Amino acid sequence: MNINLVIRKAVVSDINDILQIEHASFQVDCFSKGQFKYLLSHAIFYVAENNKKILGYYILLTKRRSKKVRLYSIAVHPNARGKNVGQVLMYHLLNIAKEMHYPCVSLEVRENNSQAIQLYKKFGFVENGIKTNYYIDGANALIMHCYLNEKD
Ligand SMILES: CC(C)(COP(=O)(O)OP(=O)(O)OC[C@H]1O[C@@H](n2cnc3c(N)ncnc32)[C@H](O)[C@@H]1OP(=O)(O)O)[C@@H](O)C(=O)NCCC(=O)NCCS
Repeated sequence: MNINLVIRKAVVSDINDILQIEHASFQVDCFSKGQFKYLLSHAIFYVAENNKKILGYYILLTKRRSKKVRLYSIAVHPNARGKNVGQVLMYHLLNIAKEMHYPCVSLEVRENNSQAIQLYKKFGFVENGIKTNYYIDGANALIMHCYLNEKD
């Protein structure tokens, strides 16, 4: 499947497909159409597309004067999981962070989300603390950091 996988910037006309992925991926704390529209112009927002079908997305948030870029969200459509789409998105976002000279990517992940945690560890993320009661349903978040070496 990777052969035809294209990673490109998200555009407004992608939002309905992204919303489908969102609702299929998260039980609570889903982004709304309005939030995605806002993020299109205020974040680094890419989609993975295969034969014109959107299979996944990621969003990076930057903050002025911060040394960290935040992986705000990443998701792959359930039908496309386990086929390396998540990995391709991770390679892409880490390269973008390196190109922007960020020394660190940070994220929060539900502490029981083993698929995502495995994916992050595979890309060098390490645990960096816990935020208790972080999600709307009271679940804790694991904080993870990936330290980037521009020479890699
Ligand atoms: C996490 C997620 C993005 C992974 O996407 P994916 O396309 O299925 O991932 P890949 O096929 O590229 O797999 C990459 C790695 O992720 C991990 N992984 C993926 N599926 C896994 C599973 N079912 N169990 C354990 N690890 C898994 C593995 O480390 C895997 O590497 P490996 O194949 O060498 O073992 C996807 O499961 C998803 O969208 N989940 C719902 C949304 C979500 O939880 N996002 C994270 C919010 S913080």
